[in-house]
Amino acid sequence: MRLHPPVYILFRRVKEDDVICGHRIHGGGVVVMTPMVFHRHPAFWDRPDAFHPERWLDEDAANRRPRFAFMPFSGGPRQCIGNSFAMMEAVLILATLAQRFAPRLAEGYFPQPEYGVTLRPSRGLPMQL
Ligand code: HEM
Repeated sequence: MRLHPPVYILFRRVKEDDVICGHRIHGGGVVVMTPMVFHRHPAFWDRPDAFHPERWLDEDAANRRPRFAFMPFSGGPRQCIGNSFAMMEAVLILATLAQRFAPRLAEGYFPQPEYGVTLRPSRGLPMQL
């Protein structure tokens, strides 16, 4: 969800001229946000490119981070309505499978990102159990 967020690009229509962090934006235009970039921004993350799930146990680090440094479900009034459901479902599925199987990537397969409407591994994610 941090390194390879399925929704890796978000768009917002600009209602009126404004200035964001010194950048002028124009009414009627479109602002594009890429969570992938700020999910890996070194100002917010230690070892930004490392898969290091234990980082989430560090509450101090989480409190120091700006609120929207991590937003795989977007933010504000139009954020994902399935946020909590998706996380609960993913954890339950992973925990259920991990109790029964020891998955490893199929031999010779290296996951490559495929940037479509959502970000996913190209050619699926073949595993040996
Ligand atoms: C890992 C799984 C999921 C991810 C990463 C995800 C991500 C997102 C993101 C980023 C948005 C906002 C798009 C935008 O602002 O342009 C969104 C919107 C939405 N998502 Fe999800 N989503 C996930 C699962 C789900 C599930 C399970 C449901 C339904 C059960 C769902 C229903 C919706 C709906 C209805 C919206 C539109 C909300 C609105 O426009 O008011 N999503 N999702």
